[in-house]
Amino acid sequence: MSTSIPDPGLDGNPVERAGWLRDQLWFHNERYYNDDAPVISDSQYDALMQELRDLEAAHPELRSASSPTQIIGGIASDRFPQVQHPIPMLSLANAFDRDGLEAWHRRVTDLLDGQPFRMVAELKIDGLAVRLVYREGAFVLGATRGNGQTGEDVTPNLREVESIPRSLHGDFPADLEVRGEVYLPLDSFQRMNEERARNGEPLYANPRNTGAGTIRQLDPEVTRSRNMQIWTYSLNDAGDRPMPAGHWEALERLQSYGFCVNDANRVFDTVDEVCAFYDEMLHRRHDWNYEADGVVVKVDSLTQQNALGFAGREPRWAIAYKFPAERANTRLLDIIINVGRTGSLNPQAILEPVVVSGATVQHASLHNEGDINEKDIRVGDMVTIQRAGDVIPQIIGPSEMPEEGRGPVFRMPEHCPECGTTVVKEMGDAVHRCPNSACPAQFFESLKHFVSRGAMDIDGLDEQWCRILIDQGLVSDVSDLYHLTREQLVKLDRMGDNLATRILDNIEASKKRPLARILTALGIPGVGTEVAQLLVERYASINELGEAGIDELAGIGNSSGFPYAGSEELDEAGIEGIGPRTAESIINYLQTVRNWETITALRDANVQLWQELAPVAESAQPWKGQTFVITGTLASMTRREAEGRVKALGGATTSSVSRKTNWLVAGESAGSKLATAERLGVPVLYESTFLLLIDNPANIGSATFEIL
Ligand code: IVH
Repeated sequence: MSTSIPDPGLDGNPVERAGWLRDQLWFHNERYYNDDAPVISDSQYDALMQELRDLEAAHPELRSASSPTQIIGGIASDRFPQVQHPIPMLSLANAFDRDGLEAWHRRVTDLLDGQPFRMVAELKIDGLAVRLVYREGAFVLGATRGNGQTGEDVTPNLREVESIPRSLHGDFPADLEVRGEVYLPLDSFQRMNEERARNGEPLYANPRNTGAGTIRQLDPEVTRSRNMQIWTYSLNDAGDRPMPAGHWEALERLQSYGFCVNDANRVFDTVDEVCAFYDEMLHRRHDWNYEADGVVVKVDSLTQQNALGFAGREPRWAIAYKFPAERANTRLLDIIINVGRTGSLNPQAILEPVVVSGATVQHASLHNEGDINEKDIRVGDMVTIQRAGDVIPQIIGPSEMPEEGRGPVFRMPEHCPECGTTVVKEMGDAVHRCPNSACPAQFFESLKHFVSRGAMDIDGLDEQWCRILIDQGLVSDVSDLYHLTREQLVKLDRMGDNLATRILDNIEASKKRPLARILTALGIPGVGTEVAQLLVERYASINELGEAGIDELAGIGNSSGFPYAGSEELDEAGIEGIGPRTAESIINYLQTVRNWETITALRDANVQLWQELAPVAESAQPWKGQTFVITGTLASMTRREAEGRVKALGGATTSSVSRKTNWLVAGESAGSKLATAERLGVPVLYESTFLLLIDNPANIGSATFEIL
């Protein structure tokens, strides 16, 4: 997937747009949370999320429990054991100005029927949220936030964070759960980058992602060497002790147990006081050895917090009042073109180095030709750049506009800068692409992606080795990796015996990665971890997926070529969470001969292209031979979950009702499928009966069902 955000060109269709937004948000979630390497700015991400929220609010039928609007943050990776958070780790609503803060304050006042309330104002630390669990005063578990419900057990690394006490002080309860933000101090970050500069290595982008990467790598020694620290900001479970009456008291307790609590935190009664605190913090934001990106304002009283409750994944009793993104002016020295994995030509700005909020910036991402020219940015201009929090900076536009002497208007090259093939730009696509799938730049990106962490996870084969393997002619298709020999590797400059063994072992181990990883690794545009997971819930092998029609994937439901036009079955057929555009991309990929050659070569190299399913006993499949269609909105689960339940009991699900359908499960607002079932005499199970049957699946034969 390209890192820029091409418009799908189908804005008129909310289903299509929501699918596209979800794909985008999943993709960027993974870059941010799992790779610790975001490719768009926070504000661009927020804009995508807001658009999806608005769309879901305007079209309730588009809502789904698996939407990124409902799921917090990252997806727990499988490098670490997963842990469930008994109390979900939530996120915060944002205010970007005083008006936003005042609106929050008014809302809280209304909800509390005009009761006065005290507020605690804290710095919003830009690090990695963690949950720390103590038993009998001993640190027993430390986990990342993950998706809010499930995180990663990173205890060994958190044990190496100096300011996380391994054992508690004072009069602590038997059980305790604490939350806070782990961060990489700015001086450590700077030292690390100085060393990298000395070694000629590429610099780390920012402390937040480097810190998160430090906690989410496998060697606790590395964590120790980086001097990671923590600020704690909540006590979530005080075991057998009564919870404190207010948040301020909770912070005091944390301190008494030996946790670091930021001493800038204050209690206030009025919005004016909070704003004065915000202004002071904004003014002092560069005085600290860590990054803060705003002020968090929390209602102090726990009784009032409980009365206010939550709105979706955000507490109503707190708000993050964000600092504005920092800006600077510098000269645009050049615009270079990188060719992405899918052939997209991605322009990148080369800037005269400038320091913005503590980081030296030399590059900025630019989206596409249209965007560059709309902003009227030209090589040689002085431009304003903005570093929003922790990501690659954006160019806002020229900072001054000389009357004359400007460079020419930017034009994309007509030929791919890597392979010379004539560049194409399709109707409705904002991005120029190199159509040559054998383009070496595309292959380099594909190979990097194939071996990467969320994909085949071939540790040791980093970017530079990918480049060398290609340059030496050892790898020209990802399947060639599986034919590399020790002799070939050890002949490479700077490749020792140990590294060669590690790489070969990891290549061997990658043959048995789960199917979802291979689907991710193939680099099908639009198919990241999440979409791959959705696919393997329905298809047991790449072969099976290869036989799927587009209607089965995205549920077009007819062959008219007009997805969803005017149909009330919009969100019903196909796989929930896969938009038509992604479905089309999957089909295109699987219908391309060259791609099948790769897949066949992988299979011949013994890479497992199917999922190992645990053998299921006949008795565990009471619904074998029964076909279900699920329609409408179920209160207790999403349709996808319902399909999963049916399959787990041996049943099959299809998207349209026919005479062969054994059962129609009808949720709320069931539409034409219910009418069809009625017409064809297919028995209808309403949710309550369906749930009863799930609990007593053997009763399927004697189910009392409802026929209208
Ligand atoms: S309170 C339900 N306090 O910001 C309340 N969070 O955008 C959630 N963060 O996930 C946490 N400093 O990782 C809280 N003083 C602070 C914080 C803070 C940083 C992070 C935290 C949270 C994210 C929400």
